[in-house]
Amino acid sequence: MSIAVSKYAQSQEYGTVYAYDITMGDFSAKILSFGATWQSMTVPGKDGRRRDVLLGFDTLEGLLGGDYEGMIVGRYANRLSGSVTINGENFDLEKNENGVTCLHSAKEFSFANWASRTVGEDTVELIHYSPDGASGFPGRVEATVRYTLTADGAMKIEYRAVSDKDTVLNFTNHAYFNLSGQGDILTHTMKINAAAYVPVDKLDIPWGEIRPVENTAFDFRTAKPLGQDMNAPDEQIQNARGYDHNFCLDGEAGTLREAAVLRSEEDGITMTVLTDNPGIQMYTGNFLDMPGKGGVHMGAYAGVALETQYYPDTPNRPEFPQCTFKAGEEYHSVTEYRFSVDK
Ligand code: GLA
Repeated sequence: MSIAVSKYAQSQEYGTVYAYDITMGDFSAKILSFGATWQSMTVPGKDGRRRDVLLGFDTLEGLLGGDYEGMIVGRYANRLSGSVTINGENFDLEKNENGVTCLHSAKEFSFANWASRTVGEDTVELIHYSPDGASGFPGRVEATVRYTLTADGAMKIEYRAVSDKDTVLNFTNHAYFNLSGQGDILTHTMKINAAAYVPVDKLDIPWGEIRPVENTAFDFRTAKPLGQDMNAPDEQIQNARGYDHNFCLDGEAGTLREAAVLRSEEDGITMTVLTDNPGIQMYTGNFLDMPGKGGVHMGAYAGVALETQYYPDTPNRPEFPQCTFKAGEEYHSVTEYRFSVDK
């Protein structure tokens, strides 16, 4: 068990970016100060060969031109329909997608170089302050993220944030997983413990419906290959060219519980996602198209993102579980990605 820190990049705009390599037996992970990014996760397969199960980049430039691979997203992950109303006051947000919607709070927390330090031999702590009014949101927010690689092969991500004004807080990690470390995820199986999901319009904004998954392509209550219903004649699937939807997790939000299980039979690797969040966005990388690590092209379905979160556009949807926090009230959330290898 060890952590090594090194200089990863020097940027005129962002300063020195640090990399933290955490090693724990057969598992290792790299965390970057820029974007508080989970850059790599190395896991042995049943053949004993180690593979990096995260999509991403070798350089800061790659990350800057990417699709949030491994980044922390906040203060509001996912999409908001242009404005939020807090205590009756309307706040116009930065509309960084189609000039209409606010995706991942623009560059607020992902495109920032966080302050970072090690805690013990297994944890990296990152802190970033975002000013009052950033991307249009009220309140100066201090966010702290802790990544811990546990002895049994889990990456635990703990999020804390506090604002000096009432505001919306909803953080996630946008890692894309591919348990083979190459190719696509279409033959990986997925299980999601959700009896319902949130359908969205053409701008990926919900209208308030919570739709049962039963008899739809969205039923992952029993594990099935991700590719199985990827082309289903379902308007939601067709519009997104696959999955890019929030699943409403079973069980009680606020309690750490199993959310999803991703498995590659061929590699003998299983990843179990646990979270205390009410939802999880599954995005199957439908529009990926860029060079990644080692210059290898990342195309559609090269990886799957499992973003634990509150539902999209929650502040404008009173029927969804709410995430408006009072000034001084702490937002706290935990998500774990547990890796296990067939013996
Ligand atoms: C971002 C979002 C994904 C998906 C893509 C579409 O990466 O996080 O959920 O909507 O955009 O390109």
